[in-house]
Amino acid sequence: MGIPAMMYLWPAARGGSTNVEVEGAIDLKPGRSKTLQVGSKAVIVVRERSGFLAFSAVCTHLGCLVKWDADSKKFLCPCHAAVFDGNGKVVSGPPPAPLEAYVVKEIGDKVYVAPPA
Ligand code: FES
Repeated sequence: MGIPAMMYLWPAARGGSTNVEVEGAIDLKPGRSKTLQVGSKAVIVVRERSGFLAFSAVCTHLGCLVKWDADSKKFLCPCHAAVFDGNGKVVSGPPPAPLEAYVVKEIGDKVYVAPPA
């Protein structure tokens, strides 16, 4: 299936309002991240060896913005010292739920992020 056909099947590639291209994502080294705005939310995209993961940067405790720590490969919340693992699951601290996972699509050499369905 060619790239135009894939773009038809996934509206993000056509520039939909909630699907956002992650500029320069393909050049990220494994373990590195980019933060971008998707709709009204900050989203962190992390490059893994096998692809990309994306999570809302909004902590599920009281809404502070978490940061990706490339050394520990965890998301850290500065407000109440919460720690989330690389899959967004709570490791420690008060958050009641994991970070919200976003949908990531790689189309050719471009990477797109969209909110969960
Ligand atoms: S807002 Fe993140 S731990 Fe409280």
